[in-house]
Amino acid sequence: MLNQQFSAQDSELLEQIMQARRDVRGNRFATRPVAQKLVDKVLQAASYAPSVGFSQPWEFVMVSNQSTKQAIAESFRTVNQSAQQQFGDTKQQLYQSLKLEGIMEAPINIAVFYRPSKLPVLGQSSMQETGKYSVVCAIQNMWLMARSLNLGIGWVSILEPQEVKQVLSAPEDAELVAYLCLGHVKEFLDKPELEELNWEKRKPLESCVFDESY
Ligand SMILES: Cc1cc2nc3c(=O)[nH]c(=O)nc-3n(C[C@H](O)[C@H](O)[C@H](O)COP(=O)(O)O)c2cc1C
Repeated sequence: MLNQQFSAQDSELLEQIMQARRDVRGNRFATRPVAQKLVDKVLQAASYAPSVGFSQPWEFVMVSNQSTKQAIAESFRTVNQSAQQQFGDTKQQLYQSLKLEGIMEAPINIAVFYRPSKLPVLGQSSMQETGKYSVVCAIQNMWLMARSLNLGIGWVSILEPQEVKQVLSAPEDAELVAYLCLGHVKEFLDKPELEELNWEKRKPLESCVFDESY
């Protein structure tokens, strides 16, 4: 469509989807399968993301095999054990009560990799990280598209990337950016769970926007 324009209503709808997007953990996934055409929509959304030099440096490994998931969940358990120790007593107790992944519960897991280009990429020469930032743009598109389809995504980063790579036979140069759990949802929370539980507060915009200089 040439120079497509959107209405104020369209824009409000996008804002609603953004506000309603949640990180979905195991306790809120429904186990029923996700139709392939919905999965395809989520993946297609990734491909619409911006990327440095239009390099599209993302690759996805779709996982639904139980034994593969078990191996990933094992990595989560090990990392999670040591991760909680960095917090003080009170937070550690709360941490232990949190469900921080939905690897087994979500019918589909998606490991998202950054695959750096072997050739120079327009725009990436002085900021190599922009390659990985591009992959994150794709993930955000997936997250929003999933929400618009009433599907949930949970991002699991409490993992040892090398272990995940080994389990998935990832090539040496592929870097794990995210491990996503995708599925139907029993309940979308109105607010981030970590906000509900007073782990963190939402920052007021004024606290992170500066005028002209820091
Ligand atoms: C890069 C990244 C990594 C995350 N890793 C985890 C994780 O390992 N486990 C988890 O429960 N949530 C994880 N989250 C979800 C955040 O906790 C969540 O986005 C945040 O609390 C705000 O909640 P909301 O996404 O529901 O708005 C991650 C989110 C991002 C963006």
